[in-house]
Amino acid sequence: MEKLKIAGAYPLKGQIRVSGAKNSAVALIPATILAESPVTIEGLPDISDVSILKDLLEEIGGKVTLEDQMMHVDPSSMVSMPLPNGKVKKLRASYYLMGAMLGRFKKAVIGLPGGCHLGPRPIDQHIKGFEALGAKVTNEQGAIYLRADELRGARIYLDVVSVGATINIMLAAVKAKGKTIIENAAKEPEIIDVATLLTSMGAKIKGAGTDVIRIEGVEELKGCRHTIIPDRIEAGTFMILSAAMGDGVLIDNVIPQHLESVIAKLREMGVTVETSYDQIFVRRGEKVKAVDIKTLVHPGFPTDLQQPFSSLLTSAEGTSVVTDTIYSARFKHIDELRRMNANVKVEGRSAIITGPVQLQGAKVKASDLRAGAALVIAGLMAEGVTEITGLEHIDRGYSNLVEKLNGLGATIWREKMTEEEIEQMKSS
Ligand code: EPU
Repeated sequence: MEKLKIAGAYPLKGQIRVSGAKNSAVALIPATILAESPVTIEGLPDISDVSILKDLLEEIGGKVTLEDQMMHVDPSSMVSMPLPNGKVKKLRASYYLMGAMLGRFKKAVIGLPGGCHLGPRPIDQHIKGFEALGAKVTNEQGAIYLRADELRGARIYLDVVSVGATINIMLAAVKAKGKTIIENAAKEPEIIDVATLLTSMGAKIKGAGTDVIRIEGVEELKGCRHTIIPDRIEAGTFMILSAAMGDGVLIDNVIPQHLESVIAKLREMGVTVETSYDQIFVRRGEKVKAVDIKTLVHPGFPTDLQQPFSSLLTSAEGTSVVTDTIYSARFKHIDELRRMNANVKVEGRSAIITGPVQLQGAKVKASDLRAGAALVIAGLMAEGVTEITGLEHIDRGYSNLVEKLNGLGATIWREKMTEEEIEQMKSS
C-alpha cells in the first residue's frame, strides 16, 4: 500500500494533458457486451476502474486486450455468467453490466455496486426502467437478478435526473422490440459518448444530450471502433489546481464547452481563463475573490468538482458557500481541509469557507475519489509536506496523476506505507 507526498506552495507552469473520460469509459466497456463482433475503444484512461471492468468482461467469457490506452473486446463468446460478488463490488459503474447483459442475454445477476460513499445512492430509477422494458427484477442477498422473456420498448419518465439510469436504460433498450422514449433524461456529455458508440454499433438513438431520448430497437449490433471523449472532471481538476497555484498552465485535450460552468466561476473569482479549440489556459490572478457554488445536473456546476473547488476557495478573499444539491454527504474532505488550517464548516448540504488562509501540510486521508483530488490540490497549495493516504480512491479515477503534476513542476511522489501506518489508517 502506498501514500502520496506533496511538498507544496510552489508555482505550477507548463502543459498537462487530459486522459479519456472515466465516467464514459465505465459505460463504454460494458456496452461492448451488446455487440456480436469485436469492438475497439481508443483513448481509455489508465485507471483501476478500467482494469477491473476488463477482468469482469473476461469473467463472462470475453476476449479482451488492453494496450496503449486501447481496449479490444471480442464479445462473441460471452455468456450470462452471474457476477454476484467480488470485483463488481469495487466500483459503482458495475451497474452498467445489468443493462448490457439484460440487453444481450435477457438475463443477468449482478452484485449491488460499490463506489464512493457520498450519501444514499439508490438505483431505483434503473430498476424502474428495466421493469418498464419487461424485465422481472429481484434483489436476493445483495445481488440484483434480472430476467425477461422478451424486452419491449416503453415510455419511461425518470423521477430523478440520473446519469446512470439514463445510460443503463439505453443499454437495455437498444435491442428491445419497438420504440423506447426516456423522458427527463440526464444530459451529461458521457451519455452522448455512449450513444455515439451504440450508434456506431448499429443502434438507432435520437436525442442523446437532451432530456428526451428516443430509441428504436434493432435485432443485432456489430463491432466498431470508437474514440472516447476527454475527461471533463479531470480537466476541471487541472483548471482548479492551476487557478490555485498556476503561473500559466495549458490544459490540453479538453472540450471547453463541457466546462462552461467551471470557466464562468473561475472568471468570477478573478482567474484568467482562455479557451481555444481543445485547450484551456489558466493563470491565477493577484487576488482571487470568494464565490458561491451550487452543484446541479449538466450543464450546471458538476458535483464531482465541488470538493476540488473547496480547496481553491480557502485561498479566496471573503466567504464562499458551496452547496451540493446532488449528494447529501459529499463533504468528507472538509475535516481533512480543516486539519490543513482551512477555515471551513459544514451546515446541512453546504460548506462555508472563509479565506484567505495559508494551508499547512498535514497527514490526511482521502475518503473518496474527489475528496482525494481536493486533498491533492490542498497539498499543492500548502506550505510544508502533505501526506495523503487512501490512494486507492484517487487511482480509481486519475490516470498517472503523479507524473502529470510533476510535469508542471510540482514535487509529488508515492511512498510505501509501513505496517504500522496501514494499521493506523484502517482504524481511523
Ligand atoms: N438517484 C436516485 N435513484 C436512482 C439513481 C440516482 O435517487 O436510481 C439519485 C442519486 O442518489 C443522486 C442523483 O440521483 O442524488 C444523481 O445520481 P446519478 O444517477 O446521476 O449518479 P450516478 O450515475 O450514480 C454519475 C457519476 C458520478 C457523478 C454523478 C452525477 C459515474 C460512474 N458516476 O453517478 O461520478 O457524481 O453521475 O453527475 O458515471 C465521480 O466521478 O466521482 C462520481 C461520483
